[in-house]
Amino acid sequence: MLIAPSILNADNLNLKEKISKAVDAGITRFHIDIMDGHFVPNLSFGPELVKDFKREFPMIDAEIHLMSNQPKTLVPEFVKAGADSIELHYEAMSEEDLEYWIDYIHSNGLKVALVLNPDTSVDVLNKYAVKIDQLLIMTVYPGFGGQSFIENSADKIKHAREILDNLNPKVPIEVDGGIDNKTAAIAKEAGAEIFVSGSYIFKNGSISGQINELSEVIK
Ligand code: DX5
Ligand code: ZN
Repeated sequence: MLIAPSILNADNLNLKEKISKAVDAGITRFHIDIMDGHFVPNLSFGPELVKDFKREFPMIDAEIHLMSNQPKTLVPEFVKAGADSIELHYEAMSEEDLEYWIDYIHSNGLKVALVLNPDTSVDVLNKYAVKIDQLLIMTVYPGFGGQSFIENSADKIKHAREILDNLNPKVPIEVDGGIDNKTAAIAKEAGAEIFVSGSYIFKNGSISGQINELSEVIK
C-alpha cells in the first residue's frame, strides 16, 4: 500500500515546504498532474517543475499523470526532466501511438501506467495488461482536484483486479480522485493498492496528520 500525494492543490507558492512536510511524514512518491488545457479543461505544471522537484528531492519518485493528447511534444520532455514513471491515458491517443509511447518510456528506463477514465471499460486491459507496470483507475473525471469519488468505481476496480490477476498479477491498481479516509477504504476493499490524494492531504490543516490518517485506513 502506498500513498502518492497529488501536488495539484498544494499551495503552489510554497510547494517545497508542502512537499517536505509530506516527505517527513514518510511519503516516497508524488503524483504530478500535467494538464494541457485541451485533453482536459485546465492547465497545471510542465517539465521544469519536474526538473526542480528531482533536484530538490532526488530520492523521491515523480509519477507523471499525463493528461494530454500531445505525447510527441511532452513525453520526451518529461523523460529528460527526470520523471520516474509516466501514466498515459487510453483515451488520449490511438492504440498505435499508445504502444509506441509505452515502448519509448520503457526503453528510457521509466515505468509506465495505463490510465482509464471513468467511462472507459476495463476490457482494454486484455490488450495492455502485459505491457504495463501499473494501472490507474480514475475515480473522478480528470481536470480538477477537489471532486467527489465516483461511487461505482469499486466495481470497476474489482473487475480490473480480476483481469490483471489472470494476465499480469504483479500490476498494482492505483486510484485517483476524491480519495479521503472513507473512499480510500472502499477502494482498498475493492483491490486498490496505491492511493493518489490531493485536497484531503493538502487542504485540511496538518499534512502529516492527514497522511497518518490515510495510512491507518489503507494499512
Ligand atoms: C484530477 C487529478 C487528480 C486530483 C486529485 O484530474 O488527476 O490527481 O488532482 O485531487 P483530489 O484528491 O483533490 O481529488
Ligand atoms: Zn492525477
